[in-house]
Amino acid sequence: MAGRLEGRVALVTGASSGLGRRFAVVLAREGAKVIVAARRKERLDDLVKEIGVDKAMAVGCDVTSEENVIALYDAAEKRFGLVDTVINNAGVTHSDNALTQSVEEFRKIMDLNVTAVWMVAREAARRLVNAGPDKATRGRIVNIGSMAGRHVIPNVTAYNASKAAVAHMTRSLAREWARYGVNVNALSPGYVATELMGDWLDQEGGQKTIGKTPRRRIMDEESLDEAVLFLASDGAKFVTGADVLVDDAQSL
Ligand SMILES: NC(=O)c1ccc[n+]([C@@H]2O[C@H](COP(=O)([O-])OP(=O)(O)OC[C@H]3O[C@@H](n4cnc5c(N)ncnc54)[C@H](OP(=O)(O)O)[C@@H]3O)[C@@H](O)[C@H]2O)c1
Repeated sequence: MAGRLEGRVALVTGASSGLGRRFAVVLAREGAKVIVAARRKERLDDLVKEIGVDKAMAVGCDVTSEENVIALYDAAEKRFGLVDTVINNAGVTHSDNALTQSVEEFRKIMDLNVTAVWMVAREAARRLVNAGPDKATRGRIVNIGSMAGRHVIPNVTAYNASKAAVAHMTRSLAREWARYGVNVNALSPGYVATELMGDWLDQEGGQKTIGKTPRRRIMDEESLDEAVLFLASDGAKFVTGADVLVDDAQSL
């Protein structure tokens, strides 16, 4: 049976670990050709071997660099054709609170979590729009936000602000590109056990946080499979500007 994403060319940023890695595997399993991007190229090469060298390609890329982002799309297009699906996933959090964080660190968070997300989406949309309406209407951009975009996680103001920006930027881009048929949505997870958390989950703070969630648990990487597949698929033709919260009631 054909997969739900057969014929799609999907870019996943931040695919060298955590959610991005999982998204790449899941999209490929449903038939998409997948381009995986991040700075740690060796990890991406291993992932491509796991998915299959005929179905995936790895591109070493710092998504905060405009030059890198353009080169990434050029390489993807050369190998698999026009990118019609983007999982805009690369992102980072921080340990400093607002009183101790430096301006440089705050800017670094915004540069990756907001500016790079905009840049990666813009490059995809430019190419889709230039390719004409038949191609553009296949466009699916999924920006990975967070429940932190609508619910304050204590002591990570820069992260919270960056994810709120992702949610509103998603609505704004969806409005701008609605006329071309390019759909832009956000997928906002609650806590998922990935490298981003480091060993915080095993420590007192992490255990306390888990204890305060309504279901006394955090999610695993598989928790987002169906949501990302839906937003990337033809089935989401009429869904744009949405911010899909998958958080197991953690923010309630
Ligand atoms: N885990 C959670 O609980 C959770 C909850 C809500 C939202 N999220 C969001 O989900 C996304 C993925 O998080 P995760 O938990 O999977 O974190 P992760 O395991 O730390 O992965 C982050 C990814 O971003 C990449 N990255 C960082 N800086 C980059 C850059 N300049 N250019 C290209 N890639 C870069 C990293 O790869 P390299 O270091 O190799 O570049 C890595 O692959 C983030 O946007 C995060 O905010 C996570």
